[in-house]
Amino acid sequence: MARMGRHQQIIFFRTLFRASPVGAGLWWGLLLVGGLIPAVFALATGSVIRAVESDGSLAGPLVVIGVVFVAMQVIGPVHSAIGQNLGRLAADWMNDRLLRATTAPRGIAHLENPDLAAELSMARDFDLGITAPPLFVSMSFIAGGLRPLIAGVASAVILFGFAWWAPLVLVAGWGSTHWLLKESGVWKDRNTDPVRDAQRHADYAYRLAVDAPASKEVRLFGLAEWIVDRFARRRQHLYDLQWEATRLRERSVLSSLLAVAAANGLVFWRLAVATADGRVDIGDTVVYFISAISVSAIAFGGLNWALDSASAPAAAVERLAAQLHATDSLSPPIDSEGIPSAALGAGAHGVHFRDVSFTYPSASAPVLTDLSLGITPGTSLAIVGQNGAGKTTLAKLLCRFYDPQSGRIEIDGADLRSLDVDAWRARVTAVFQDFVRYELPLRDNVAPLGAPDEMILEALAEAGADDLADLDTPLARGYEGGTDLSGGQWQRVALARAICGVKQGAGLVLLDEPTAQLDVRGESEIFRRLLAATSDCTTILVSHRFSTVRLADRIAVVEGGKVIETGTHDELIALGGRYRTMYELQASRFAEVDEHGEEIVYDTLS
Ligand SMILES: Nc1ncnc2c1ncn2[C@@H]1O[C@H](COP(=O)(O)OP(=O)(O)OP(=O)(O)O)[C@@H](O)[C@H]1O
Ligand SMILES: [Mg+2]
Repeated sequence: MARMGRHQQIIFFRTLFRASPVGAGLWWGLLLVGGLIPAVFALATGSVIRAVESDGSLAGPLVVIGVVFVAMQVIGPVHSAIGQNLGRLAADWMNDRLLRATTAPRGIAHLENPDLAAELSMARDFDLGITAPPLFVSMSFIAGGLRPLIAGVASAVILFGFAWWAPLVLVAGWGSTHWLLKESGVWKDRNTDPVRDAQRHADYAYRLAVDAPASKEVRLFGLAEWIVDRFARRRQHLYDLQWEATRLRERSVLSSLLAVAAANGLVFWRLAVATADGRVDIGDTVVYFISAISVSAIAFGGLNWALDSASAPAAAVERLAAQLHATDSLSPPIDSEGIPSAALGAGAHGVHFRDVSFTYPSASAPVLTDLSLGITPGTSLAIVGQNGAGKTTLAKLLCRFYDPQSGRIEIDGADLRSLDVDAWRARVTAVFQDFVRYELPLRDNVAPLGAPDEMILEALAEAGADDLADLDTPLARGYEGGTDLSGGQWQRVALARAICGVKQGAGLVLLDEPTAQLDVRGESEIFRRLLAATSDCTTILVSHRFSTVRLADRIAVVEGGKVIETGTHDELIALGGRYRTMYELQASRFAEVDEHGEEIVYDTLS
């Protein structure tokens, strides 16, 4: 544990140097100068006394004392300003490194891996002041811990002039307090699992209460008391942990007192004897006395909690940077046996899943087992299946967020793994089930990387979202002129984004529940328009709504990790299998009986 802590501290100081070599150099330089001041002061005092004794000139020693005195006043504020700046630069550097580390892997397994979640949140949130002060504040505490340590050691060095053993005895005596009183008085180890766990739960309860998203349920389900109680209990648990970690331990205090008293007693006694015997002159005696007292600074300084809590995230960032790159969920590119990526032509792509098996890295059960499915270029395929059947997973594999463990996905006959990932992704556009609602103007929501306004407006019109808002309107409340959209309106914006992708040249369109939140009339109308807009592409649609599904050229039913039925709507109805059962189940929900006892079937399925 201690070695790990030291290792983290080394990483932290390396981080400071990487973030700003000049800033870190200045910070260390002034820290050293500040730490040496008490020793210089002691030596200067000795010179004054010696000068007085020998009737020598006082000018030199007094100038030194004056300079030291002025330096003491000036160095503090300057050092703290440099420390603040350095802290900010280091935090930026760490944020930047984490940004690069998390965005570098081409796959997304690292962000969906529960084992990395705690490490990621520590590396991400370190500067928010939740578990420790922000780095720019911590730098003062860190300096405040190191300066006395330097001062104590420098004073000890002076004592070598008196006796070789004296500094060793004093440093050992005062230094032993660090070891004996560790974890007393200050809460050092905040990064334990119980602390992080209690912190995370307390924060979560707090956010449920104060943020907008949960406000409706909190009120409707009467959760306010429950949340406050959860928050209070987790905070109480945190305080208990803190109390346990930081209370003074009586026996250690007693041992520390004994060690310190013995060391000081010995040194001061020998010094007194030596002075009385005339072996040490009065000037030196004063210097040694002041120095012997100043060695005590060692006990009050040290590598304190601020350094520990600043070092932990610095080390986490480094670990993640190394780990994330090494554990990209994508397998290395394989030799292209078929079409090289350069030949990935424009237009619709043929897609073929061949015996694909896939298990999420953090799961034990496979989602897909030997799944095979072909899609002819330029056609649309709907995928249906129960919740958790693996439909979204198929879309993720097609985008190469993960690679299957066995089998292969072919694009126009070439193994997907042989294609350049970026080149391939440029050919794909999608509406994901959990599409992103960017807190940005409508224009950027449709084309985050930019597109001509006419194209954006066209895409919006084709998605039935032409009268939602001005292109410049931010789609978030809390911004000037900003507005929020309804669930279905947001879905239309996401559709417009996918359509814009088609207009910019995508050849494969993935639609994962793109119309789940649209009103019934809007849904079939938009889906028809969508099929028209994407007629030059291969379209894969995932939907639970059979009124949409039946419009696709072909339909595949996924169950138990495999495709169990494929065909057109009519073929699958005629087959009388799973598709027909699901279809009829849904159709019956739309049937009602009118006042004459006749069954009316709403027109949503025609
Ligand atoms: N990142 C993940 N890590 C581990 N397991 C996952 C992950 N994502 C999904 N799963 C699991 O994989 C299975 C398939 O999930 P998937 O999202 O593909 O289902 P789906 O068919 O899209 O369902 P739905 O109709 O509800 O959207 C589920 O059992 C799910 O719990
Ligand atoms: Mg899904």
